[in-house]
Amino acid sequence: MTYTPFDLSGKVALVTGGNRGIGYGMVEALAQAGADVAIWGTNEERNAQAAAQLKDTGVKVFTRKVDVSNEQEVVDGMGETLKNLGRVDSVFANAGVGFGSPSFHDMDTETYRKTLGVNLDGVFWTLRESARHMVERSGKGDVGGSLVGVASLAAIEGAARNQAYAATKGAVISMIKGCAVEYGRYKVRANAILPGWIATDMTAGAQAGSAFAEKVIPRVPIRRWGEPADFGGMAVYLASDASAYHSGTTMIVDGGYSIF
Ligand SMILES: NC(=O)c1ccc[n+]([C@@H]2O[C@H](COP(=O)([O-])OP(=O)(O)OC[C@H]3O[C@@H](n4cnc5c(N)ncnc54)[C@H](OP(=O)(O)O)[C@@H]3O)[C@@H](O)[C@H]2O)c1
Repeated sequence: MTYTPFDLSGKVALVTGGNRGIGYGMVEALAQAGADVAIWGTNEERNAQAAAQLKDTGVKVFTRKVDVSNEQEVVDGMGETLKNLGRVDSVFANAGVGFGSPSFHDMDTETYRKTLGVNLDGVFWTLRESARHMVERSGKGDVGGSLVGVASLAAIEGAARNQAYAATKGAVISMIKGCAVEYGRYKVRANAILPGWIATDMTAGAQAGSAFAEKVIPRVPIRRWGEPADFGGMAVYLASDASAYHSGTTMIVDGGYSIF
């Protein structure tokens, strides 16, 4: 006998911001587990590069230039994804931006709005369009799906100089919990992933400075930065039938940082 739920053959996964960083870590594992994948990002060159890297997996890869902070682009992106891949079983609302500020009282309104546009509006439209598809699909007897919001530890810890970002991530958790309750009847589950300190372009500044190396990373029990590949297993699990009864939770992936 073999345990097969992690075989994603026949399933389709959509990852926003899937062309690099944590998103690509998830995309790569999803494709290697057999899922066809859709990658959305604003940079077409990066999208194409990610697709090229996945060539050997043999799955269908669909990329599209979608700025998730633009409602029409998300609506059209979902339409084209469905046209090209036929369905969407799991959605990872992962695209995000982070802008540092010297202090909360120096944070300008433009940065605040830009952060909300991608990290909150973008997640709202991505999840809404995905839920709409899953409900429609279920009306034809094809029930089920997995909605995933990529939040952050910033949502639950005091994030000094990062309040706009933290507020969007707290909102992602709330949105996901509402979806878990509302769409459970369609066998659609919804969960949030909370990454800790992960080595991606977003944290390039912190990786380059000595403060993090001396004061933060030694406080991570696993004693290293997280890597995009650390999110592959979680993505495959949440896209798979193994997580069919797992809904409404916040899953921390931080090497133990938050409990130390
Ligand atoms: N790195 C960390 O330590 C950390 C910790 C906690 C949470 N997170 C969260 O994890 C997620 C991924 O972060 P990351 O570290 O992997 O960041 P990253 O390396 O900077 O990648 C960000 C991704 O989002 C895409 N993106 C940005 N703006 C977009 C937009 N308007 N529309 C569509 N796609 C957009 C980018 O693609 P394009 O360049 O093509 O637009 C890229 O693929 C984010 O939500 C972030 O807040 C990260």
